[in-house]
Amino acid sequence: MSNTILVGAQWGDEGKGKIIDVLTEGADIVVRTQGGNNAGHTVFIGGQKYVLHLIPSGILRRGKSCVIGNGVVIDPVSLVEEIDGLSKLNVKMNENLFISETAHLVFPYHRELDEQRELLKGEHKLGTTKRGIGPAYGDKAARTGLRMIDLINPERFEAVLKLKIRENNEVLKAFGAKAISFSRVHAAYRAAGDRLKPFVTNTVVLLDKAMRRGANILFEGAQGTFLDIDHGTYPFVTSSNTTSGGACTGSGVAPNRMDRVVGVMKAYTTRVGEGPLPTENAEIADMLHAMGREFGATTGRARRCGWFDSVATRHATMVNGIDELAVTNLDGLDSLETIKVCIGYRIGSKRYEYVPNDIETLTKCAPIYAEFPGWLTETHKAREWKKLPVKARAYLKAIAELTGAKLAIASVGPSREQTIFL
Ligand code: GDP
Ligand code: IMO
Ligand code: MG
Repeated sequence: MSNTILVGAQWGDEGKGKIIDVLTEGADIVVRTQGGNNAGHTVFIGGQKYVLHLIPSGILRRGKSCVIGNGVVIDPVSLVEEIDGLSKLNVKMNENLFISETAHLVFPYHRELDEQRELLKGEHKLGTTKRGIGPAYGDKAARTGLRMIDLINPERFEAVLKLKIRENNEVLKAFGAKAISFSRVHAAYRAAGDRLKPFVTNTVVLLDKAMRRGANILFEGAQGTFLDIDHGTYPFVTSSNTTSGGACTGSGVAPNRMDRVVGVMKAYTTRVGEGPLPTENAEIADMLHAMGREFGATTGRARRCGWFDSVATRHATMVNGIDELAVTNLDGLDSLETIKVCIGYRIGSKRYEYVPNDIETLTKCAPIYAEFPGWLTETHKAREWKKLPVKARAYLKAIAELTGAKLAIASVGPSREQTIFL
């Protein structure tokens, strides 16, 4: 038995889905433990593109089981759509998907509140995915949420939903927003509940039994370290613990049963939504966007881009306990003559070796750069470490060393085969 937690070491979209798909070959079960359909994980297999939002990327390999854990917030209507969409691509879900009874639900009033709060904030908005994630986790923390176990109990669901819609319509009225129709939501959610019921179970007990049988479990992180509700660039974060601890609380698998933490990071930095991004750089953004890269998998927004930030990834190693690194999108840097890497932050003469917690301070931080020579060679066909240009290997080794963990995987393209193990 071996349990691996995989986390994003930056601001999300590091290529977690692709690396999960690769690592699933050696796993029996893949578990999502936090976030909701704000996540968008892209995997290419044989030229076919798959975008996963709530279902673990492990579903793309036959014979593997997938679990949506208790820490995830589920929009059941959107989950049914995802199941149907995958089914059209011949990815079938029968005995291979399990959904936690205690995962909380996302409702249309959460989405509407997400939208209204963003509108009210105006230029101070967070740039959320508008999937209702913040309000849904808010209800969970306030102990006023509904869970999967309620959805599949028709009488209880109807009674509680009635109250919830009445309460939330009062709030929406205060925002000047449209009221939500109980009967419409009830009908759509009950239909989704009937579709999902066969998958709903006690996933904590299921995972425990699997571990006793010696199963290898992979925990698929969503979002990234700097979107973590505790350790991210608050308030420009999501509403769950995206760091490795979230894998334990979000699955019911205890910390002492975890064996390894893998951090996924891009060879540069991206962020979608608002908030500080110290190494943001228009030139690298224009270059990547012109290549058709770095558009969000969930909202289609152009991602903000910048140089690799080792202050941030070193921080990620600390809060996640990252043992091994998977570096993706190396090929995105192939055409650059010089590549910059942030090795510290500076405000005037004061130097920072860590990410300051105060958001205003972080916004003022100017990156201190080291420069690396580019390799000016295409890397997407490389399948072995030795086939990578010497300068690309030196760059990878350097960013891993600055991050403080062992380089284990380099990715040179979106598909499964474009993966180099060290
Ligand atoms: P996730 O949310 O962490 O799973 O990442 P996303 O799927 O949202 O974004 C990562 C993007 O990079 C996707 O479009 C992937 O197909 C793509 N990708 C992942 N690894 C590589 C790589 O090594 N090279 C290239 N060119 N694309 C990659
Ligand atoms: P994956 O799993 C990148 C960002 C949003 C916004 C902030 C809060 O694909 O890496 P939310 O809707 O969660 O309340 O938005 O978090 N965000 C992501 N950015 N990748 C994601 O997921 C994200 N999920 C949320 O853009 O800045
Ligand atoms: Mg993504």
